[in-house]
Amino acid sequence: MSYTDKMLRDDALKGKVIVVTGGGSGLGKAMTKYFLELGAQVAITSRDIDKLKNTASELEAATGGTCLPLQCDVRHYEEVENMLQSVLKAFGKVDVLLNNAAGNFISPTERLSANAFDTVIDIVLKGTKNCTLAFGKHWIDSKQTSSTVLNIVTTYAWTGSAYVVPSATAKAGVLAMTRSLAVEWAKYGIRTNAIAPGPFPTKGAWDRLMPGDLAEKFDMAKKVPLQRVGDHQELANLAAYMVSDFSAYINGEVVVIDGGEWLKGAGQFNMLEAIPEELWDQLEMMIKAKKNK
Ligand code: COA
Repeated sequence: MSYTDKMLRDDALKGKVIVVTGGGSGLGKAMTKYFLELGAQVAITSRDIDKLKNTASELEAATGGTCLPLQCDVRHYEEVENMLQSVLKAFGKVDVLLNNAAGNFISPTERLSANAFDTVIDIVLKGTKNCTLAFGKHWIDSKQTSSTVLNIVTTYAWTGSAYVVPSATAKAGVLAMTRSLAVEWAKYGIRTNAIAPGPFPTKGAWDRLMPGDLAEKFDMAKKVPLQRVGDHQELANLAAYMVSDFSAYINGEVVVIDGGEWLKGAGQFNMLEAIPEELWDQLEMMIKAKKNK
């Protein structure tokens, strides 16, 4: 067994209808593929319908599942409502909303225009709010008894992070929404959880966030105690579990999957990792000598 293996039993998501926003590429596509392999019917959404159509046919051919491409800019509530209606028309119901669509710019904050800041907030926070509100209202009105919202956040939702301030601000809001609704909507049978992935390289986001030779300069694997980046299947395994009935008692949780990355940056003495064994011998002698005086 390896962490790149598929984790759940074959029919773990059979009968479930799942919507993955931003499902046309990257991590959204990887999670969608695994959901299809586990028997779910999946609608993928983004602004780019051509990309979605290509992804849907590729994934249907690869998995034998049903993948529905739907154009939707999550920033606009009426587009989200239309998307929901199309899903209901095609599949008759929806069980899971995976809020994965995101946007991010790396930049000193003072260089961002007000519109650039808004753009990220609108996609990440307002987009997640739009989808969650529309789907939540539908589930409550139709008295559906078991449904799940899964939000993709990030570890800097609680630490904050320089140079991605709009994203950090928006993701912190999504995290607060996750925990708040987990309590408020549990009575309607709606579970609300989040995943906070560390570095999982994808073509799109990686090239945008680490352009040119930045990726080599700041080797992300070196920041991770486990000394490697994540594999897409690891994230897909976790997401599939979180939206499956196996996680029925998990509600309001944010699961970090980052090899220990954020804690490495946080612990006050973690920099002592750089001290070699011989130096530890010397330090121990010095400390003990002081004590014996
Ligand atoms: N750095 C700083 N500002 C930027 C920028 C960058 N890299 N890219 C765009 N902007 C600014 C634009 O100048 C514009 O502001 P202005 O009107 O004041 O000039 C504003 O942001 C909106 O830009 P625009 O290109 O019109 O946005 P959009 O709505 O068409 O698309 C994204 C925004 C984020 C969706 C788009 O950049 C994108 O598709 N990104 C890929 C997805 C992504 O970011 N994935 C990472 C997930 S972690």
